[in-house]
Amino acid sequence: MSLAVDNIGQLVTLDPADPERPVRVDAALVIDDGRIAWVGDARRAPAADSRLDARGRAVVPGFVDSHSHLVFAGDRADEWEARMTGVPYTAGGILRTVAATRAASDDELRARLARHVAEVRAQGTTTIEVKSGYGLTVADEQRAVRLAAEVTPETTFLGAHVVAPEYADDRDAYVELVCGEMLAACAPHSRWIDVFIDAGAFTVDEARRVLKAGRAAGLGLRVHAGQRAADGGVALAVELGAASVDHATHLTGDDVDALAAASTVATLLPLVEFSTRQPYPDARHLINAGVTIAIASDANPGSNYSSSMPLAIALAVREMGLTPLEALAAATVGGAAALQRGDVGHLGVGARGDLVVLQAPDFRWLGYRPGVPLVAHTVLGGEVLAS
Ligand code: NIG
Ligand code: FE
Repeated sequence: MSLAVDNIGQLVTLDPADPERPVRVDAALVIDDGRIAWVGDARRAPAADSRLDARGRAVVPGFVDSHSHLVFAGDRADEWEARMTGVPYTAGGILRTVAATRAASDDELRARLARHVAEVRAQGTTTIEVKSGYGLTVADEQRAVRLAAEVTPETTFLGAHVVAPEYADDRDAYVELVCGEMLAACAPHSRWIDVFIDAGAFTVDEARRVLKAGRAAGLGLRVHAGQRAADGGVALAVELGAASVDHATHLTGDDVDALAAASTVATLLPLVEFSTRQPYPDARHLINAGVTIAIASDANPGSNYSSSMPLAIALAVREMGLTPLEALAAATVGGAAALQRGDVGHLGVGARGDLVVLQAPDFRWLGYRPGVPLVAHTVLGGEVLAS
């Protein structure tokens, strides 16, 4: 089956094979068998089995959200309210979600995850990474990655989110469990392993053990670091060749130099700064230094419960010094780099047919109209999703 999307007023391809021309006007494209088969001038569009008339609106690549924690139960709206009055975010709240998640049935977690996936699709996200990390037992962590794998191939084992309450007095034994039995149970359902480096979570040395064990089990590496302080996690991520280091809010000059010289992507999470009232990372400085950046949502019940990539883009422009095109690129092709995926995040020939028709004539409206639903259609693998 093929689908022609035509009458596109403005097409943002961000095609790495055509770096001089990230944006085209009066364009069309054809998706065949789930992949982009043709991109060109609207007047030359070849015939296809079906047609989506963009009616002169803008089309952008589907958003690639490379960081989320959407397998959970319960909520922590009370913590959010307290933060708005000046109470700082701490990792301690994670254990409240762990208790609620452990108590939930498989069906309840599956239904909540499905609702979240529908929510992100409606906001234009076509690729999403989903982490475990609210189970912290072998069975509960395995259940989380198993459920995540039902909705995405980008699944991440985050047994090292915080130390499980049962191991509060013996954190070393918990790290051993994560690296041993828990990893063995979760690796078959996971593509990635992640660890939260923070004063309330894991040290750099503990994280090194976890990441090395994950790598030995065949998983790719991701790291949460620098959320609340420059904590040495960026250097570890670069040392181990992690695909991405996420948050990266607090960085030293050496961290920036190390990232610029490495392939590790700095994944910035502006919705967390928004929801924790923290200063935003200086994305302008990172880009100028030559660091590859991504923007992701980090949707989770604690530090940020928004899954909106358009809002993250708006914040990246408003608060982090990016141009609208840089912010959109970070949320699409940047997220793809953070997931080491060449087939998503852009609309070059051969890429997956994942795109968004905006209810707007120009992609800049993503930041120009913050908080306004601007997704007219989400197309996933050439299929127009119900909107
Ligand atoms: O990325 N930082 C660690 N994990 C999440 C927060 C999880 C939570 O507070 O429940 C984050 O911000
Ligand atoms: Fe996170």
